[in-house]
Amino acid sequence: MSGQAIRNDPTFRPGRQIPWWLFAAVLGVAAAIAAGSIALQGANEEGLLHITRYTARFAFLIFVVVFAAGALAQLFPSDTTRWLKRHRRYLGLSFALAHFIHLGALTSWFVAIGEMPETVTIIGGGLAYIFIALLALTSNDWSVRKLGPKVWRRLHLTGVAYVWLIFMNSYLGRLASETPPEPRVIFAITAGLGFLALGLRITAWAARRRSRSRALVG
Ligand code: HEM
Repeated sequence: MSGQAIRNDPTFRPGRQIPWWLFAAVLGVAAAIAAGSIALQGANEEGLLHITRYTARFAFLIFVVVFAAGALAQLFPSDTTRWLKRHRRYLGLSFALAHFIHLGALTSWFVAIGEMPETVTIIGGGLAYIFIALLALTSNDWSVRKLGPKVWRRLHLTGVAYVWLIFMNSYLGRLASETPPEPRVIFAITAGLGFLALGLRITAWAARRRSRSRALVG
């Protein structure tokens, strides 16, 4: 690919300032979740389970913003939505950091209770972690150039869609459960946010298609 083509690629942003404070904020919130969970539940298995749940919820909130950032900037252009879109890469990396903290918490919990997760969870969740690691490792200009924008975009679209599915599987499962571990409203909000973000992406995609076909006709 020529230098010009790379510069024209929408995923290529040379010389972006890395907002390190985002990663510091993720570590700060994770530390606050751990401290709050231990204060509420104690430094025991219950405390670890609480940390596991809340680190997943925190990571999900970042994920949903990354998932919807492009659509938000397109449908509701403003300084804020443009900022979110411009910093999507670093928000995505912040999500990866937050979700690997969830992995650390859930591993500690399983060690504490002396059990293993179900095989289906290890396979389904494990594949999501492989995708998250791949997306994080390829979130740089060098990878965009090496893979080419088409392959890079396909990888990121597949990975992000799979992670969305795993989140929705967790939340819809809890919503449908007769004995959800916490008030159902929490899972209704998180599942609702996931579907809202998906709806925004579909709306933005349809609008782009419409304007492309109008341009072709005109
Ligand atoms: C091997 C991989 C994984 C294992 C073993 C695992 C295990 C767990 C465990 C034990 C909990 C706490 C369950 C409870 O509250 O009783 C949990 C919570 C959760 N996990 Fe994971 N997880 C894995 C990967 C993932 C992935 C990849 C995602 C999302 C992409 C995810 C999303 C969630 C969510 C959303 C919750 C919290 C639900 C809530 O709000 O209460 N997990 N996980």
